[in-house]
Amino acid sequence: MISSENDQLISSTPVYFYDLNLLEDTLSAIVTASQSKQQFVHYAFKANSNKPILNLILKYGLGADCVSGNEIKLALDSGFPPSSIVFAGVGKTDDEICYALENEIFCFNCESIQEIEVINGHANRLNKKAHVAIRINPNVDAHTHAFITTGVNENKFGIGVHQLEAVLELIRVSENIVIEGIHFHIGSQITKMYVFRELCAKINQINAWFVKQGIQLNHINVGGGLGIDYDFPDVNPIADFQHYFNLFDQFIVRDEKQRLHFELGRSIVGQCGSLLSKVLYLKEGISTNFVICDAGMTELIRPALYQAQHQIDNYSSCNSKTERYDVVGPICESSDCFGRGVKLPLTKRGDIVAIRSAGAYGEVMASGYNLRRKVESIYSHQSVRSAIQNFSVN
Ligand code: LLP
Repeated sequence: MISSENDQLISSTPVYFYDLNLLEDTLSAIVTASQSKQQFVHYAFKANSNKPILNLILKYGLGADCVSGNEIKLALDSGFPPSSIVFAGVGKTDDEICYALENEIFCFNCESIQEIEVINGHANRLNKKAHVAIRINPNVDAHTHAFITTGVNENKFGIGVHQLEAVLELIRVSENIVIEGIHFHIGSQITKMYVFRELCAKINQINAWFVKQGIQLNHINVGGGLGIDYDFPDVNPIADFQHYFNLFDQFIVRDEKQRLHFELGRSIVGQCGSLLSKVLYLKEGISTNFVICDAGMTELIRPALYQAQHQIDNYSSCNSKTERYDVVGPICESSDCFGRGVKLPLTKRGDIVAIRSAGAYGEVMASGYNLRRKVESIYSHQSVRSAIQNFSVN
């Protein structure tokens, strides 16, 4: 058994494996691509909120994008400065709003007129100023899965453009509200860059409207959504951040004092995580053969919920013959399937399969359905391939 310093052994499965070197390389690509352009990135905590991951993200100077009081608390406890924290979400509770006000976070991304009224009321009572950005629904189709599309008219997110005049009137009479900016987030796993150009065009119209109303916004927050390559994680382990940040820099018309903010989640942590699972059984079916794993939709729900396809590798088999399998979990649901017709080296009981690109929206979405135990995580400075090849699993 080989173990490099600081690496944890793969002692039991299912387990989330995080390649911290890849995470650092990703963070450093982000810093290089964004820093010189008055662009600031808040990491979307909802994608993965494990401590060692947050620590690295903090080390690279990113801020925090939170969607609950608990996420704000975790951000503060982890050392993220309050001035780097944005708070989003359509359903902020009164307690969460007060907590954020007391801690003087950078900005609330407000999603309805009533929410602005409520925030103003609490801010008044607490004798605080609430700094807000208006989350606007720009009606731009992200061309991604319907469940992770957030910026078209039928979505619950953001305030419609038709309500902007009413919003401004309200803000003008709300003494404890300070308008800082506008905020957008049209969806996740966006792989078509023209979508972001369409977003920029809408943002320019809206920003110009604010200028006409005599309001100079300090920042424009374009949200997150940059997709990752689930098909070829080894070919494209790091998203094309240069292209992404350049695009916004080039296509958003802004005053030199206006800063651009981003809220990236998946593109930061997605590729560094893999779900490792032991093969429990092989079963010959009528139309297909099954690899039955000890991980299921309780550990990674993305395939069942969004029909997501994650690459699956069996690095523990040295067999040069390959076979096609349906790779499934132990949960009593037919949607508990990680992939159909997956080509793997001849696989046997006890092999370890890696379900790749699972660092974002994997562990955080795990559930206790079927009374499953909480999935654990390990951190490494080597790739998932070498870790599996180097470590034996009990
Ligand atoms: N900002 C807001 C307001 C968001 O709602 C989200 C994600 C982000 C930023 C970060 O987006 P990202 O850069 O990660 O695409 N569970 C789904 C994804 C849900 C995304 C929710 N909002 C999945 O597994 O695909």
